[in-house]
Amino acid sequence: MKLRLEEISKRFDDHLVLDAATLTLEKVHTLALIGPSGGGKSTLLRIIAGLEYLDTGAVEINDERVVYEENYLLKHRRTIGTVFQAFNLFPHLTALQNITLPLEKVHGCSPAEARETARQLLERFRLASHAHKRPAELSGGQRQRVAIARAISIKPRLLLFDEPTSALDPEMTAEVLDMIKELREEGRDFILVTHEMGFARQIADQVALLAEGRIVEAGPVAQVFDHPNFPQSRDFLAKVLKY
Ligand SMILES: Nc1ncnc2c1ncn2[C@@H]1O[C@H](COP(=O)(O)OP(=O)(O)OP(=O)(O)O)[C@@H](O)[C@H]1O
Ligand SMILES: [Mg+2]
Repeated sequence: MKLRLEEISKRFDDHLVLDAATLTLEKVHTLALIGPSGGGKSTLLRIIAGLEYLDTGAVEINDERVVYEENYLLKHRRTIGTVFQAFNLFPHLTALQNITLPLEKVHGCSPAEARETARQLLERFRLASHAHKRPAELSGGQRQRVAIARAISIKPRLLLFDEPTSALDPEMTAEVLDMIKELREEGRDFILVTHEMGFARQIADQVALLAEGRIVEAGPVAQVFDHPNFPQSRDFLAKVLKY
């Protein structure tokens, strides 16, 4: 995908959360978005997903500019698969229904089509035996894998994941990261906010570091991790790569 973020600014009350964040990537499959807590990563991801309005600036995906008007955004959101840290699933629905409901209600699938898509995805990700469980009856890792299966069920052009493993213990984290890796190998386009630096290094082709609302540094993974150009990124990476 080609991605252009042009001077995106966003203010919540008197707090400038994004401050002319700018990034141009001519070609990227997996972008890891990293940076200190509170730097604006989730806000930026929500803006790209069309879940949040920007104040000024522009987002372009494959040369198409996202129009921040409700009618456009309704369509835009249907082309993007999102997974957040936690609380992704509808608690009162089973794993299967969590996938079929949006397919039927938002994407116009027939109940039979939706069921077949959900069944295949659950099968593929070794979740078939959990199809009729509600989220409370699933482990954290299983829950996130159902959320990821749902995100890809809509055949999105882009997947946006916001720290999908940060609420999980190490074993479940590995399950979810394996699934993301598998999807990446399929050639899907991703933007992934993550604190898992080792994982970012393995799967991302580009990294962008967002701090205090600005993209401080961006580039190929090896370059950003091994030879950061700016003091702010050197400090951040020294801290997170220490252990
Ligand atoms: N809806 C909102 N209303 C008011 N302030 C908000 C809102 N959403 C985010 N903020 C503020 O914007 C700043 C950036 O938040 P954001 O969640 O984007 O950071 P982040 O980089 O994702 O942090 P973390 O790594 O901790 O998830 C924070 O100071 C946060 O308090
Ligand atoms: Mg966040």
